[in-house]
Order: sequence, then structure tokens, then C-alpha cells
Amino acid sequence: MLSEKSRPVIEQTIGVIAERIPFITPEFYRSMFAARPELLDGMFSRANQRNGSQPQALAGSIAMFASWLLSHPEGYPDELLSRVAHKHASLGVQPEHYPIVHEHLFGAIARDLGDAATPEVVAAWDEVYWLMADAMIRIEAGLYGSQANDAVLAPFRVAAKEQAGVGTVALTLEPADGTPMTPAVAGQYVTVQVRMPDGVHQPRQFTLVPGPEGTRRIAVRLDERGEVTPVLHHDVRVGDVLQVSNPYGDVVLPEGDGPLVLASAGIGVTPMLAFLDRLARQESPREVLVLHADRSAATWPLRELHELLVAELPGARLETWMETPGQGDHDGFMDLGEVRIPAGAQVVLCGPLPFMRAARSAAVAQGVPGRSIAYEILGPDQWMLHDDAREA
Ligand code: HEM
Repeated sequence: MLSEKSRPVIEQTIGVIAERIPFITPEFYRSMFAARPELLDGMFSRANQRNGSQPQALAGSIAMFASWLLSHPEGYPDELLSRVAHKHASLGVQPEHYPIVHEHLFGAIARDLGDAATPEVVAAWDEVYWLMADAMIRIEAGLYGSQANDAVLAPFRVAAKEQAGVGTVALTLEPADGTPMTPAVAGQYVTVQVRMPDGVHQPRQFTLVPGPEGTRRIAVRLDERGEVTPVLHHDVRVGDVLQVSNPYGDVVLPEGDGPLVLASAGIGVTPMLAFLDRLARQESPREVLVLHADRSAATWPLRELHELLVAELPGARLETWMETPGQGDHDGFMDLGEVRIPAGAQVVLCGPLPFMRAARSAAVAQGVPGRSIAYEILGPDQWMLHDDAREA
């Protein structure tokens, strides 16, 4: 809980801090990576630094946390903290990293605000930082403690590499040493760390898709302008060894026996495959409306598996939207207005941000309460920070 001393100071300065974040964060990262270049080798994504998405996410979340503390004196934004803690744990963030981020972030704030960074202002934001850091450190400790091993990464050998639609490959990864594997919950992801041609290691998260027992299987959509996916597509071969984290991620299959809507676009199909597989293994009679949008049937990742799992479930039905439609497809982008969402349904969305925004609005327009809509963003979450995605 924010102290009575800090509360008015945060109230007075949150506007200016939020406004200055786009200027503070590049300076924070520049100074941190100058002092600790090893953080760019295996932990932070160089690509996110270049495109600026991650800088905004980290610092933006502190302002969002502060505004939450002002409006909810009794609680914490659990969903935000949990999402970030899972991401951190998949990357091996440790308690001793927090003072490093603190030092460079607050150095950047002091330089940016100049005389406005009075000792009083700095002390109040310090309090916010450590409230948030302590909460995340606690969640991260719990996540690390619930794993079957205490390794951040373990070696996995590429046992199979298959084309899984135009632009996507599926990699099946089997343990390459005796590290015990934590069973994954459907919908979770792993961090895969890859050595780049210049020797630097780069991590990325990939949702686990159904695969053989005792393996981790991922589907990788090629991003030609990206750094890691071209290596996984073009250079990694069967027999190569990659470093893979334990499974993390808190967007999981909504429990219960009520109806589900699983709406995906493009590579956003991956968590849906995991959910459908779990339901199929349970021989679930649940009503499941499966919706998928893609450029064409050819680019639809793991299409056969998606269709097969729907066919296995007596209560599941599939509808598709294609930019190049075939027989039975709706034409163009997904429009949830074209389907009737079952009463009481839990909706899960995964795909690009504009897709999820449109799908969410259409679901809300059909009367689905915001709390019944979950979403998974592949990449830094800019939605939660800049939008009222969780309200309503
Ligand atoms: C990602 C917040 C401390 C390393 C993130 C994200 C947020 C965030 C919001 C984006 C999560 C998403 O994908 O949606 C914070 C806050 C911190 C903090 C508020 C302090 C209170 C740290 C520390 C480290 C760290 C101490 C380690 C030095 C990372 C890394 C990512 C990340 C490597 C992945 C993103 C990337 O590489 O682009 N953090 N973080 N964070 N954080 Fe933190």
C-alpha cells in the first residue's frame, strides 16, 4: 500500500511522469546497457529495443501501477503483475536484477526531470518502484519454486522440423540432458534462446502446441525483418541443440463446463491448439465455437491439426475468415458480428492487436462482459498499458 506521505506526491507528478516516459526510457536503457552489456546477451531482446515496443512496456507499466495504487488503495493489479512475472521468469529475471533497473531508471528520471526531481518526488516514486518490484519478486519466486528443476534454461535437441503452413515451421524439441521437465499447462509458452550469427544470444517466447509426450513443440511464424525467427527457419536443423525455459504464462483454458469461444488470427492459433488438445483429451462435451482468420488456407498454421481437433470434439464448430477465401470461408477479416456468441461464453482471443481490438468490441457489443474475455498478446503487451482492455 502506498504511504500517506507519497500519495499526494504521486498524484501531483503522475501526469508529468507518464508524459515523459517516452523520453526517459530510451535514456534508461542506453545507460543500463552501457553499464551492463551482458543483459543484451540472452535476456533482453535487441529487436524490441530497436523498435521501441519493450521500452514503453516496462516503464509504462510503472506509471500504470502507480495510477492503480491511487484508485485502488487496497489492492494490486494482479493481472498485470502476473503477466509480467511469468514473462520475467521465462527469461530468468532474478531479485538481484531489480536494483540494476532501479539505478538506471531513476538516473534517467533525474536527468530528464532536472530540478523537478526533488528528493520528495524521487522518494515517492522509489516507493512505487519497490512496491511493484517486491510484488513481482514474490510472484517470480513462487513460479521458480513450482518448477520440476531449478534451471532457467535447459538444452533441447531439435527432433523434428516440419513446414506447418506457408511461412510457419513447427519444431519438436526433446530434452538433451537429464533436466526434469515441468509439465506445461495448455496455453503456456517457453522462452527459446538462440545464438545469433554474431555470437550474441537472443530469447523469444513461443506458445507450446500439441506434440509427442516428453517433448516441447513450438510453431514459428517467419518474420523476415525479425532477428530470431529467420535463424529458426533457415539455419536451425534437426539435431541442433537450443536452450529452452520451463513453461510459463497465465492465459490458460477457462475452467468449468460453460461454452467457449476461441478466436484466433494467423499464428495466434497456437494457444487455441493447446486448448483444443486438452479438451479432446478430456473428451469434453463443452460447446466450443472455434473461429480463425488468416490470409488463406495455405498460410493457416497447423491447419490440419486445428481441423482434426475440432472434429474430435462433439461440441466444437469451426468458422473461418480468409482474405483469399475458399469454399465455406467468410470473406476478409473476422467479424464476430457474423456469428452468434453462445450465452455465458468465455472468450479467448489471440492474434495481432487490431484483430483483438475488433473482436473484443464485437463480443462486448453482443453482451459478453469484459471479464469473460481473455487475450494473449504475442510480444510486449501494449494493450493493457494504453487501453481500457480490462475494464467493462
Ligand atoms: C518485460 C516491467 C524489472 C527484464 C517486461 C514487461 C514489463 C516489465 C511491463 C513487458 C511484459 C510483456 O511482455 O507484456 C518491469 C517492471 C520492473 C521490471 C515494472 C521493475 C519494477 C525488470 C528487471 C529485469 C527485467 C529487473 C532484468 C534485468 C525484462 C525483460 C523483458 C521484460 C528481459 C522482456 C522484454 C524484452 O526483452 O523485450 N518488464 N520489469 N525487468 N523485463 Fe521487466
